[in-house]
Amino acid sequence: MKQYLLSPGPTAVPERVLLRMAAPMIHHRTPQFSAIFAETKAMLEQVYKTSNDALMLSSSGSGAMEAAVMNLCSPGETMIYVNAGKFGERWGKIAAKHGIITVEIKVAWGEAVALADVQAALEAHPEAKALFVQASETSTTTEQPIQAIAALTKDLNTVTVVDAITALGVIDMPMDDWGLDVVISGSQKALMLPPGLATIALSDKAWAMVEASKGCNTFYFDLLTERKNQKKGKDTTAWTPAASLIIGLNEVLKMMLEEGLDNLYARHKVLAAAARAGFQALGMKLVSSSPATSATGAFVPDGVDGAAFVKYLRDEMGVTFAGGQDDLKGKIIRVAHLGYTDVFDVCTTMSAVEIALFKFGHPVQMGAGVAAAQTVLAARFANVV
Ligand SMILES: Cc1ncc(COP(=O)(O)O)c(C=O)c1O
Repeated sequence: MKQYLLSPGPTAVPERVLLRMAAPMIHHRTPQFSAIFAETKAMLEQVYKTSNDALMLSSSGSGAMEAAVMNLCSPGETMIYVNAGKFGERWGKIAAKHGIITVEIKVAWGEAVALADVQAALEAHPEAKALFVQASETSTTTEQPIQAIAALTKDLNTVTVVDAITALGVIDMPMDDWGLDVVISGSQKALMLPPGLATIALSDKAWAMVEASKGCNTFYFDLLTERKNQKKGKDTTAWTPAASLIIGLNEVLKMMLEEGLDNLYARHKVLAAAARAGFQALGMKLVSSSPATSATGAFVPDGVDGAAFVKYLRDEMGVTFAGGQDDLKGKIIRVAHLGYTDVFDVCTTMSAVEIALFKFGHPVQMGAGVAAAQTVLAARFANVV
């Protein structure tokens, strides 16, 4: 059976990248690797749209989330976090491990945080070192207003930390222009790589805070040590890097820049619009009132077991999506359209969902979702978007 990986991470790895990573291993403490590292880092900074260092860490995205918490905050200090889903909740869990006092802004699943609530938390807690938020909360497929949030902390002693694990390389989120203080990403999402590499960039304001902060006890995730090693001219990592992934990232970033960042954002935007149109045509309600550009979540019809639905699609049809977590377990399907995806992946998605609906005994007009998606997608070929 042909397999289609259309989950919001891991995502499909382009053939070009797989081939590049298949080359014989090289030693990482060599001029040969340093040249690749320097080129990769410079391209990554172009995607981040920052003049600061974009660092690479050998971990999944959560490692970079914890690195941000540990380097900015010390035990006994306060941080604010937006909990709008599974990944927002993670900030609180990380902080608890390190004895950091947390102020939680709880948001209903599927909704974007209200700026008034962010403002109120910041006013009530001027002592907070940082405010942590997801650009795209993958568990609910919801985009958060990170530009506006960063504007609220701009003149405060608080920094804005953005988990852009399913947003960097999906939406235009210029780090420096928007005043985002920390931006985190992970390899297995729009960076089109296998899991295992995280990236993180800090603003001058955030670096000053890290330099002044005692921070939490960490050896491996000391960002000052990483910055010293990864700086231009030194072009290495403190510890053994995930070398194959960095070599793969070099190819990925070339692909992204060849496509052109504006084209890349436009592609993601149209794919997301098509997925939304497809689900709506099938009468499947969207999970989010502020839908993400990276992935779309939709409720499965009443009477359909969402977990069985997603399992059937994966095991019997060869199409891997994601289901719901926690409160949304068994109720939704999440389909991705980030990274190495294009128009026909959304058509495949809709076609597969229609067939699965039929299999689960739900009345479905075959082709309705595909047609709605195709109508949106056709504009991409007509160069209207
Ligand atoms: C928004 C978001 N944050 C954090 C994570 C956690 O990253 P990782 O699984 O790479 O540790 C994910 C991964 O699914 C994510 O989508």
